[in-house]
Amino acid sequence: MHASRLVFVLNGPNLNLLGKRQPEIYGAETLADVEAGCRALATSLGLELRFHQSNREYEIVDWIHEAREIAGGIAINPAAFTHTSVAILDALNAFDPPVIEVHISNVHKREAFRHHSFVSLRADGVIAGFGTQGYQLALRRLATLIESRSA
Ligand code: DQA
Repeated sequence: MHASRLVFVLNGPNLNLLGKRQPEIYGAETLADVEAGCRALATSLGLELRFHQSNREYEIVDWIHEAREIAGGIAINPAAFTHTSVAILDALNAFDPPVIEVHISNVHKREAFRHHSFVSLRADGVIAGFGTQGYQLALRRLATLIESRSA
């Protein structure tokens, strides 16, 4: 079986403000910087990338549905929807290939309400507290998992 080398990177609410929003927690890089870094790495890993951000839960659900048809993996930072969204969990449960959950901050070091993740019930791996480097680690892991599914 040949797994698709197309990967979706999905970002939830307020991540459009990355670089401006609480830089002491989320750092100085913007989401455009993160996307550029992901694109450069994806090229070197031989992955094709779709990179999206939305403040609307339904758009993230719709992108997961789109990925179902065509993608070999998803890296998702659901942001605040991590802690609230059964809809995103249900959509990911309908997606078979690997899913990696990314958080820029170490959510376990923060408020108790950030310690629970609906998405972790589905994620194959979780990266938290590595700053924006977490996206790169997620892409590397997806490339490995896609290769092992194609072997
Ligand atoms: C976040 C952590 C979430 O708790 C928070 O709501 C976010 C960003 C992170 O990347 O660290 O918006 O997912």
